[in-house]
Amino acid sequence: MSNAKKHAAKSAAKLIPEHGAIGLGSGSTVALFAEELGKRIADGEIDVSVVPSSYQAYQLAVIHGIPLTNLDLNPELILTVDGADEVDKNLNLIKGGGGALFQEKIVASASHRLIIIVDESKIVGHLAMQCDVPVEVLPFALGVVRRKIIELGITPTLREAKRKMGPVVTDNGNFILDLRFPEPIEDPSAIAVTLKMIPGVVETGLFVGMTDEVHVGKESEAYILRKDQGAS
Ligand code: 5RP
Repeated sequence: MSNAKKHAAKSAAKLIPEHGAIGLGSGSTVALFAEELGKRIADGEIDVSVVPSSYQAYQLAVIHGIPLTNLDLNPELILTVDGADEVDKNLNLIKGGGGALFQEKIVASASHRLIIIVDESKIVGHLAMQCDVPVEVLPFALGVVRRKIIELGITPTLREAKRKMGPVVTDNGNFILDLRFPEPIEDPSAIAVTLKMIPGVVETGLFVGMTDEVHVGKESEAYILRKDQGAS
């Protein structure tokens, strides 16, 4: 595991409140954060519970002895810590590399602050420079959603499972289309609305205007990008 991810996770761990409920994102960087969170809870330093954003996050909480809660008991979260696949200069994100974008977005929306942890390779000038944009699609609607996306000039690929035949089925029982854009995205907000308006698109991996801080790990340290502020 790279030191960069560890530095990002440790940097965000400084923001963990002493008490209360927070959101736990998904991914390999979040796994390092969950380890740190579990240690602090075990040491009696803090009294925090988490709303998990995926089955993976749920398992991480169980493994690290982190108390679990949910959005019915805690519809308002102090903050969420999550990973990302790309981060642009306005802290807009592509998420969903691990297929958990739908619940991740709900948990983020319940949170007063969204804290993102990434290594430096995820920082880009414009979204979709390196990654496809995942969208979660109702299986019933796959054919028509695919047609409408192609009509927009975007190339969709149905995400295939690795150790199961056929498509990835998300934690919500849906499929994922990975969208290859012909060029980097200039206006993520407009694209997010256009995609979300297609009936059958359950959610998109574009997280626009949601992020408060990005903790960017490097080999030796981490730095923080803040909304409307740049690096510190
Ligand atoms: C899962 C996600 C992850 O947060 C994202 O893919 C980053 O993962 P990693 O920290 O493993 O690079 O959005 O759906």
